[in-house]
Amino acid sequence: MHQVAVLVGSLRRDSINRKLAKAMEKLGADRFAFQYPDLDLPLYNEDLWADPPAGVTALKAAIEAADAVLFVAPEYNRGPSPVIKNAIDWASRPWGKSSWPGKPAGLAGASPGAIGTAVAQSQLRSILTVLGIELMAEAQIYLTVKEGLFAEDGSVTDAGTAAFLSDYLDRFAGWIERSKR
Ligand code: FNR
Repeated sequence: MHQVAVLVGSLRRDSINRKLAKAMEKLGADRFAFQYPDLDLPLYNEDLWADPPAGVTALKAAIEAADAVLFVAPEYNRGPSPVIKNAIDWASRPWGKSSWPGKPAGLAGASPGAIGTAVAQSQLRSILTVLGIELMAEAQIYLTVKEGLFAEDGSVTDAGTAAFLSDYLDRFAGWIERSKR
């Protein structure tokens, strides 16, 4: 079982990015154990390291304990959502104690729009690689979400999308296994 910390870059209850993460969890249940650190953190403030917020400590611990991280994030105004960027920034500090170097990761995003977070992911890709994250490049998920794509039970209603997500998970498992060697 690959332990994966899944960072969902949206806090809202009906988040389509959370639904995408949950659908992937269901499709990959035989190979992956997903856990979802809470990203409802204060905005990054260097002063808070004097007495770090419990959520920040928990986030760093979850990333460090995981075999890999999966980022699933929306696009806001053609850039990454503040929730995901804030989490990335918190975990990159304190100076010299970043949780990121060498961590295998995948990146995915969902949007009602036609290009499915492609612009935000392009920006995230450069941020993540600068942090030393081993980001999988061979497969990407830019998902356009139409009404009814996700069922009440968390499954994907479209067979083609389910096959596409399963293929991504196969490649992600391979990426994690190669990093463990
Ligand atoms: C958006 N949305 C959006 N979508 C997109 O594809 N490209 C974009 O640049 C933007 N910009 C944007 C800005 C802001 C401030 C908001 C609130 C929304 C729409 C966005 O994809 C949609 O609200 C998703 O449902 C957000 O993801 P979650 O919260 O459902 O996971």
